[in-house]
Amino acid sequence: MKFFIDTANLDQIREARDLGVLDGVTTNPSLMAKEGISGEANILKHYVDICNIVDGDVSAEVISTDFDGIVAEGKRLHELHENIVVKVPMIKDGVKALKYFSENDIRTNCTLIFSPGQALLAAKAGASYVSPFIGRIDDISSDGMALIESIRTIYDNFGFETEILAASVRHPMHIVECAELGADVATCPLSAILALLKHPLTDIGLEKFLADHAKSN
Ligand code: G3P
Repeated sequence: MKFFIDTANLDQIREARDLGVLDGVTTNPSLMAKEGISGEANILKHYVDICNIVDGDVSAEVISTDFDGIVAEGKRLHELHENIVVKVPMIKDGVKALKYFSENDIRTNCTLIFSPGQALLAAKAGASYVSPFIGRIDDISSDGMALIESIRTIYDNFGFETEILAASVRHPMHIVECAELGADVATCPLSAILALLKHPLTDIGLEKFLADHAKSN
């Protein structure tokens, strides 16, 4: 399974890269705003800065919601860097744009996926990735992981090559369960990736090894 980091924060992206387990980055307009990045020129430069840190796919989201706007914006993003994947919302004009991009060799990530039907439609339109938002589904007392399972079954039934990119990941068990269910990618906050490291018995065991070593030297 691939690990992406879900942030526009350059320091966090560097930290995840330096851990040696980072395969890509996802961003969205909220994450860009959180870093104080505004204005088209600054936003485009920030995407290039991210691409220069990570050797892997970097999702950059369009703001337009009409077909012509999505296509024009997507082409601008695509031309920025070979690692850019154009992130398109799951709306009617977005689906049309996914088809257009797929026919023109522009890779895409269909975002705001909350149902198996949406994921099926995105795959039919040729999306490279779909992003089911598992945390936001859990937030409303529903089952985000059931959505991953359902999409996996549908894609396997028909051999769709669209990759399942589990998004809105909140904690390490989301990552583990996504791995068990066969999600192709999990995009995670840095905290969730680092939390995979933790186990109290590891800490206790290491403390004892080091104490025993000190006693015998
Ligand atoms: O990038 C999309 C997704 O990961 C958003 O996550 O935490 O805002 O639900 P969250």
